[in-house]
Amino acid sequence: MERKRCIFEPFKIKVVEPLAIKTRGQREEILRKAGGNLFLVAAEDVTFDFLTDSGTTAMSANQWGAMMVADESYAGSRSFHRFEKVVRELTGYTSVLPTHQGRAAERLLFSYLIKPGMKIPSNNHFDTTRANIEQLGGQAVDLVIAEGKDPKSTHPFKGNIDLVRLESFCRENVGKIPCGMITITNNTGGGQPVSLENMRGTAEVYHRYGIPFIMDVCRFAENSYFIKEREESLSGRSVREIAQETFSLADGCMMSAKKDGLVNIGGFIALKDTRWVDGLRNLLILTEGFPTYGGLAARDLEALAVGLEEVLDESYLSYRIAVSRYLGEGLNRVGIPTVQPAGGHAVYIDAKAFLPHIEPEKFPGQALVCELYLAEGIRSCEIGSVMFGKKTEGKFIPSNMELVRLAIPRRVYTQSHFDYILEGMEELVARKDSLRGVRMTYEPPFLRHFTARFEMLH
Ligand code: F0G
Repeated sequence: MERKRCIFEPFKIKVVEPLAIKTRGQREEILRKAGGNLFLVAAEDVTFDFLTDSGTTAMSANQWGAMMVADESYAGSRSFHRFEKVVRELTGYTSVLPTHQGRAAERLLFSYLIKPGMKIPSNNHFDTTRANIEQLGGQAVDLVIAEGKDPKSTHPFKGNIDLVRLESFCRENVGKIPCGMITITNNTGGGQPVSLENMRGTAEVYHRYGIPFIMDVCRFAENSYFIKEREESLSGRSVREIAQETFSLADGCMMSAKKDGLVNIGGFIALKDTRWVDGLRNLLILTEGFPTYGGLAARDLEALAVGLEEVLDESYLSYRIAVSRYLGEGLNRVGIPTVQPAGGHAVYIDAKAFLPHIEPEKFPGQALVCELYLAEGIRSCEIGSVMFGKKTEGKFIPSNMELVRLAIPRRVYTQSHFDYILEGMEELVARKDSLRGVRMTYEPPFLRHFTARFEMLH
């Protein structure tokens, strides 16, 4: 049998940044001042920043080089045409509208399409997508398969949409659905992929009901790689071919390029035909900028043109997917349960299963977020009762799940970082029963996870 060797980073490093090395005592003081909220800790005080994979990519020498030769003309910039050509060749869509990030694309498209009372189905809408739909009086409807909601299920495509429910939803809401969506990979469900077969079925249902199909493709390359690995009939195809076939099923897409665009800022809308383009372009000019830069500098468009090509490099993708799997399996080995299987861009710790002695009122996810920082200098994000829990008539209603997301920036950390972290996790498991939870001492009226403050219970 062929010996299975470890995956190494398929790049060498030209520019380095020091990591903050602090003692536990220093971090205790920092966290106390930040009210136990990692959003309020300065990045300089974080050693391993797993808050998000969005906009945190390390760019390549080719991307930095392209930025230097960008054409910053207000109109008709050469850099725009380069970017447009790359998007057209990748997606097969003709109309390309740049935006400064994903939610700007969402706001544009939805403010053009949505009237109050309209409904938009998807597997799971990401928070900003949902908020932009609801802000316009629309309803964002999640129709992910049942396995997608079960942290223990090892279904290979937990991001799939439930086609039976989608069919009846479309039948019952004729005339009320301005577009149908799917998010690849499914961030809200744990970075889980959607199969090509499922996207084909989704396209078939939407199109049978005359509904335009718009994909949220911010992690399209990771999704395509999962398809190559897990969907047997497609294992012989290149990731680029799988991505192109994915795009061909829909009528357009929105992308936060801060993920698989391998850039620090950027996004776009791309559409197969021109029916919405004039209207969208006018809105773009109103709030983002002229259509050949759309809220970005031309150097950002250059970096993105290169990033969209680099991200399809299969040695990069096999390393990328191996990283989250390595972290996920490592955590499981030392006794930390995670959502199965590991996602493409993140690993989600199941804090409810890991810390069953902490009641939801004492926010087990936030307690773990604090301890990960104190012990290892890790910044992570609670996705549980701090984010979604509610108080109704004085009664506490917890979130269904108490998760902690470790989102992995692209090309930033190396295997020894993860090995170091996993060693520390072993020690954390040994003393987990000493964690007592946290108490919320300040509760803002909305989006409370960003600014709430906490006190550790002893
Ligand atoms: N869609 C998905 C699936 C996302 O994950 C995000 C952002 C967006 C849209 C919005 O894009 O941030 O460029 O405006 N996700 C980040 C995260 C914030 O941490 O998961 P944006």
